[in-house]
Amino acid sequence: MLAPFKASLKEALLGALKDGPEKAVEVCASAAPSLARSAAKDGVTVGRTSSKLRNPDNAPKAWLGPVLAEFEKAPSGSETKKTVPLGGGRYGYAEAIWIQAPCLACHGAAVAPSVKAALSRYPKDAATGYALGELRGVFYAEIEPR
Ligand code: HEC
Repeated sequence: MLAPFKASLKEALLGALKDGPEKAVEVCASAAPSLARSAAKDGVTVGRTSSKLRNPDNAPKAWLGPVLAEFEKAPSGSETKKTVPLGGGRYGYAEAIWIQAPCLACHGAAVAPSVKAALSRYPKDAATGYALGELRGVFYAEIEPR
């Protein structure tokens, strides 16, 4: 249920990175929210969140706070996932996202000045300073009863 969202986002990001990270910021900013909207269907909504946010619109829902805290303690790179009942037959599903090499251009400790400039549209950006293998956040889905 998360696979199409993850695949389309990765494709958009890697494609855009060929034109440099400054251009890719544009793509990330517009593609991530619209891909999430188009991946949502049949009572399923998907998204990404983190405990260190770039875009405040991605703030974690209440059930994801404890999930993020728990995933922080998981071994780096491990396939970490969790299903949480949300009441009323709804449930949430989350998967850990680990920092990989291509992420560092925009989320690392040494972000190039030109990329920083492109990121200035996020005045409250807290999503830099990451090292390889750190937990960046989660992909999640919320599923309505059918
Ligand atoms: C070209 C720059 C760029 C690269 C490379 C990049 N990101 Fe991002 N990332 C962004 C931008 C811009 C946003 C804000 C998008 C939005 O508005 O939803 C973002 C947001 C996120 C979010 C959502 C939470 C938040 O802070 O708003 C996650 C999770 C994330 N990125 C993970 C990754 C991972 C994992 C990688 C490597 C596979 C990566 N990013 C590579 C620019 C980048």
